[in-house]
Amino acid sequence: MPLHKIIHQCSEITDDTYACALFSQAAEKYKLPPAGSPPREAYEMVHDELMLDGNARMNLATFCTTWEEPEVRRLMGESLSKNMIDKDEYPQTAEIEMRCVHMLADLWHSPESAVTMGCSTTGSSEAAMLGGLAMLRRWKNKMKQQGKNCCRPNLITGPVQICWHKFCRYWDIELREIPFAPGRYISTPEEVIKRCDENTIGVVATLGTTFTLQYEPVRHIACALDKLEEQQGLDIPLHVDGASGGFLAPFLEPELEWDFRLPRVRSINASGHKFGLSPLGVGWIIWRSAEDLPEELIFNVNYLGGNMPTFALNFSRPAGQIIAQYYNFLRYGFEGYRKIQQSCREGARFFADYLRHTGLFELISSGGPGEVPGVCWKLRPHAKVNFTLYDLADKLRTYGWLVPAYSLPPDCEQTVIQRILVRHGVSVDLLERLARDMEQSIRFFADHPGSRRAEGEGSAFHH
Ligand SMILES: Cc1ncc(COP(=O)(O)O)c(C=O)c1O
Repeated sequence: MPLHKIIHQCSEITDDTYACALFSQAAEKYKLPPAGSPPREAYEMVHDELMLDGNARMNLATFCTTWEEPEVRRLMGESLSKNMIDKDEYPQTAEIEMRCVHMLADLWHSPESAVTMGCSTTGSSEAAMLGGLAMLRRWKNKMKQQGKNCCRPNLITGPVQICWHKFCRYWDIELREIPFAPGRYISTPEEVIKRCDENTIGVVATLGTTFTLQYEPVRHIACALDKLEEQQGLDIPLHVDGASGGFLAPFLEPELEWDFRLPRVRSINASGHKFGLSPLGVGWIIWRSAEDLPEELIFNVNYLGGNMPTFALNFSRPAGQIIAQYYNFLRYGFEGYRKIQQSCREGARFFADYLRHTGLFELISSGGPGEVPGVCWKLRPHAKVNFTLYDLADKLRTYGWLVPAYSLPPDCEQTVIQRILVRHGVSVDLLERLARDMEQSIRFFADHPGSRRAEGEGSAFHH
């Protein structure tokens, strides 16, 4: 190669990333670029764009894990190319998944935790689909056996997360969702029983509702369903959506009966990536017994001479999150989880105390017993302020905090609330900073009366 070409190449190699060809114009956005770029330049381009996202640690809207140990990152990196579905090829990963299922079954007092039916999922939404499908199929089989029509199934829930709306819409099921009433943001046994009939495939009780973080009264609902069976012969299964609560109640309120201790509870889901402390992409579902998961929904895979039952919506999915879940179980043990969840609860209490002290807010939940660690509040009816919670959410965003404000679903649409989740890594020190920024925001509104937007306008969270 002529010398002048080598020199030219060398100068390209040592070129500054931002002086290179890729950065001399805006990147292709909507069609594949005709040619590629060196990895470092392409990386920097994507990395820089991601700077414009919010900071996940300051996103207090999410229930999901935003802090993990370096060992979790290492295990995730080591498992990057492992596919959870390839149980033949990765028998140890399959074994780890099953160990997690048994550990959770034991934690949730399964009567047969050693032979329990359950699996990992990509999150609670997929777990909810699987739990719902099992209830639907079981109900259909029962109706067919009795020679009855099975075209009009219904599901009864309190104010549920959108995954249950999706389940009902995708599988043509009537959702009988109990509306809110002023001051009541969860279901009650009476409201559940009113809606039951022979077409009810099941009832869902949520342990930690998405809107207000409160636990629904699972035991009371179970007792009411037992009584209904005694009186009318209707045997309606109860599924617990423990997306958050499934990893909280066993550690913080071990005496609370919400799980398989109640014979009416036939299945439970939880998000490993929420208070299960694992990275994004893992959920769990466990059935009480084999008869609660109809045989025909299970896909059997032979592995290492055994029989691995799988039941999932997706085929391929990453294994790292499940491996990280097992790591967390070994790393923290029962006592470690208890300590972490307790410190989240204390963080929530600290922030709730601050809000009370302002005299401006009414607390709906404050992360105490029977609630997910977090705080949920609304403005006091006669608070003398010149801002809405949407304004406050917008203003806090300028400090980097993501604290959503939203209106409640029917019949409380007029009530606007704001909520934070206190997760692993949201320390009291960070919460003190949030309190300080909130204080400054409130002062800013007081000092600039014209700055306030019209109610409901302009919030990033409003929709
Ligand atoms: C009660 C409840 N159920 C289900 C879900 C959906 O869970 P995932 O995000 O793990 O799919 C959520 C999410 O916030 C939830 O709070």
